[in-house]
Amino acid sequence: MERTFLVVVLVSVGLVNSSCPLTCACTIETLDLLFVDCNSRSLSYVPDLPSNTYTLQMSHNTIPEINDQVLQRHTTFDESVSTYFYYIYKNVITTMTADIFTDCNNLTSINLSFNSIEYLHPGAFRNLTELTNLALNINKIRYIESNTFINLQKLYYLYLQDNEISTIQQFAFVNLPSLHDLYLNANNISHIKEHAFGNLPSLSILELNANPFKCDCSVIPFRSWLNERASIGTDAKCSDGTLVTSLHSAALETCNRK
Ligand SMILES: *[C@@H]1O[C@H](CO)[C@@H](O)[C@H](O)[C@H]1NC(C)=O
Ligand SMILES: *[C@@H]1O[C@H](CO)[C@@H](O)[C@H](O)[C@H]1NC(C)=O
Ligand SMILES: *[C@@H]1O[C@H](CO)[C@@H](O)[C@H](O)[C@H]1NC(C)=O
Ligand SMILES: *[C@@H]1O[C@H](CO)[C@@H](O)[C@H](O)[C@H]1NC(C)=O
Repeated sequence: MERTFLVVVLVSVGLVNSSCPLTCACTIETLDLLFVDCNSRSLSYVPDLPSNTYTLQMSHNTIPEINDQVLQRHTTFDESVSTYFYYIYKNVITTMTADIFTDCNNLTSINLSFNSIEYLHPGAFRNLTELTNLALNINKIRYIESNTFINLQKLYYLYLQDNEISTIQQFAFVNLPSLHDLYLNANNISHIKEHAFGNLPSLSILELNANPFKCDCSVIPFRSWLNERASIGTDAKCSDGTLVTSLHSAALETCNRK
């Protein structure tokens, strides 16, 4: 499997690429920039892309991974290109490695919904300073590790609903000054560690319904965080259906004695 992929990369490195991949359709989107349509082409790898790609759609294929060497080709992008957009929806991608989007700093939107992503490397989204929209919903993500979503200055929408997330580590979502909508509903979240959220001044929608929060003493920091914010995350429920925000202090009183 890996060997096959290597061959593909070596062959394409030699090309100065301006042509449309044979199996895809390219149309002018804006100025001399291309809309590259590789949807439903039975592709099992990301083809060599024209350097003036502006929007790439690659949904409904069987791509098992997106490789940094393929996407890095965007360093040759026209200087005037300030934004572009990826759409790799409905594939079979299972892992997001670090640095796959290195040199794709101008990406504004990434849609990886409906894949089979289990593991998100904390470095995967580093340096995406223009990213406003990141969709990772409907995958199989299990953990959000520390520093996964950090310093993304323009990130406004983050979709993580319908995964299998059970634990959110401390410093998972930090310094996201523009983040407005965060969807974590329909996961398997039992714990949100203290300091999981930090410097999210624009956060206005935090969806947490359909998660089995464990409402023992460990929930106290999270309940306090919610109570300080009043209007977000109010749909978080314990596994017995009690709203986290309505947990009585009395019920958690014994915690302080330990
Ligand atoms: C990003 O856009 C800026 C212009 O806004 C351009 O100078 C830079 O080369 C682009 N970077 C990449 C990696 O395309
Ligand atoms: C992020 O940017 C810094 C400098 O701006 C650079 O040193 C680092 O290698 C970049 N990291 C990634 C993952 O692209
Ligand atoms: C991702 O792409 C799918 C397919 O078009 C679309 O239904 C969905 O709304 C997109 N998600 C986001 C957050 O843009
Ligand atoms: C949900 O999380 C618990 C641990 O808190 C784990 O034992 C269980 O297998 C998870 N269920 C799913 C469907 O991921």
